Amino acid sequence: MNLPKLGINIDHVATLRQQRDEHYPCVVKAANICLESGADQITIHLREDRRHIQDFDVKAVCEVTKQFNKPLNLEIGCIPEIVNIAINIAPEWVCLVPENREEKTTEGGLNLTRDPIFQKVKETCEKLKTETPNSKISLFLESNNQILAKAAELPIDAVEIHTGDFARAHINNENTEELLKSFENSLIFLKSKDIACHAGHGLTINSVKPLVEKNLFQEYNIGHWVIAVSVYEGLKNVVRDLKNTLNGNNL
Ligand code: PXP
Repeated sequence: MNLPKLGINIDHVATLRQQRDEHYPCVVKAANICLESGADQITIHLREDRRHIQDFDVKAVCEVTKQFNKPLNLEIGCIPEIVNIAINIAPEWVCLVPENREEKTTEGGLNLTRDPIFQKVKETCEKLKTETPNSKISLFLESNNQILAKAAELPIDAVEIHTGDFARAHINNENTEELLKSFENSLIFLKSKDIACHAGHGLTINSVKPLVEKNLFQEYNIGHWVIAVSVYEGLKNVVRDLKNTLNGNNL
C-alpha cells in the first residue's frame, strides 16, 4: 500500500487573523511552509459566513498549491454561491461537508439517509461533475453502513470518514476498538465500490498513529491540532513530525 497523504487544514491561521481583522498571520505563508515541510495537500473550508477563510484566500492558496504542484482540497457546504466559487477555482478536490452557522466546527458527516440532504448533495455532485469535471469529489461522512450505501449511489471519488468521535475517545483514553472495527468495515465497503477513503477531524499526532498502524486511510486531513501546537513548536516542525508519523516512523 502507498504511504498515506497528509493534508493540512489551515483554516485556523485565518481564524486568528480574522479575530483582529489584521493581515497576519498570513494564510499564504502558512500554505507555503506546510508544503515545504512535507504536506501533500492544503485543505481549506470556505464557509458561508466567511468566519475564517475569505474568498481572496481561496485564490491565493490555489496559486501556492499550483506552484508546488500539489492538490488543493476545498471544503464547502452545498450552498449555491459557494459551489459556484468552487467551480471557478476548479480545485483538485472538492469535499462536501454539512454546514451550520451555529456550530464551532463541522459537527459530523452529511446524513445521506435523510432524503432532502441526499437530494441536495446529489444535485451538487452532478453540478460539480458537469461544470468542473477535473475536480474530484469527496463527501464527509460518518462511518455508517446505511450512509455509505447511499454515498455509493452518487458520482463521487472519495469519502472522508469523520474521525471526531474516535479522536475524542483516544484523547480520553477510552476503548476505541469498536470505532476502529467500524472504520475497517467502511474501508472494505468503499474499496468494493472503487471509492477512495480519506479521514479527518479532531486528529492529533497521537490519535492518528493507530489509524496509520492499521493502514486504514489513504489521506488524513488535520488542522486544529497542527495550528494549535505550532504556537510553541513551529508549523514547520509540526508538519514534518506529522508527515514522518504518516510515513510509519515514530509509531
Ligand atoms: N476534514 C473535514 C471535512 C473538516 O471539516 C475538518 C475541519 O474543518 C477537518 C478535516 C480538520 O479537522 P481538525 O481541524 O479538527 O483537524
